[in-house]
Amino acid sequence: RSKQSQFKIVLLGESAVGKSSVVQRFVKNSFDEYRESTIGAAFLTQSIHLSKNDILSSGDNDNSITTDTIDDDGITVKFEIWDTAGQERYRSLASMYYRNANAAIIVYDITQLESLDKAKYWIKELQRQANKDTIIILTGNKLDLNDERKISIDDVNEFTSIYNLLNFEVSAKTGENVNQLFKDIAIKLVIK
Ligand code: GTP
Ligand code: MG
Repeated sequence: RSKQSQFKIVLLGESAVGKSSVVQRFVKNSFDEYRESTIGAAFLTQSIHLSKNDILSSGDNDNSITTDTIDDDGITVKFEIWDTAGQERYRSLASMYYRNANAAIIVYDITQLESLDKAKYWIKELQRQANKDTIIILTGNKLDLNDERKISIDDVNEFTSIYNLLNFEVSAKTGENVNQLFKDIAIKLVIK
């Protein structure tokens, strides 16, 4: 049996939180200290392979996926990624990108308090306007700047538990947790 294996992902969040950097880390495994702010939106694709074990051992698998539903070689998932522009003047374009998204990664910067307010704004907007099936993942970036942290994981958990959202902390700079973020999203979408 063939499962859908191509998914659309959108990234949203305040300017300079590192949306493009997270995508660049995932797609090209590289990082730029000096990056131009995105204009409008950027489109990128990347594939990720899930082994049979990745899928079966996922804590979220409610046994609707069994050994027979997945090939022994696992599944290759292709992501179509819309990296939106965080600057205020582009805000009204966002709905075009999140409308049909299978997953939305809402990014904040763990060193910038206001960036969490903007993230909460996007989560509320998505819950009102987006497809009910869209998986929302709240992601704190710049984990390498842990010494300058202004937002604790507890601050965020309070919020994500109400809305039942996935919750990650990553660093585009060091790459910490970036692949894991996309892999977990892939698994969530595949077992859905
Ligand atoms: P817009 O396109 O304007 O919405 O911004 P963006 O969210 O795409 O941010 P971008 O990826 O352009 O990164 C903004 C700045 O933060 C750049 O100077 C990056 O080098 C820096 N940056 C991004 N990710 C990290 C990170 O994980 N750690 C550190 N220390 N800096 C980062
Ligand atoms: Mg950008």
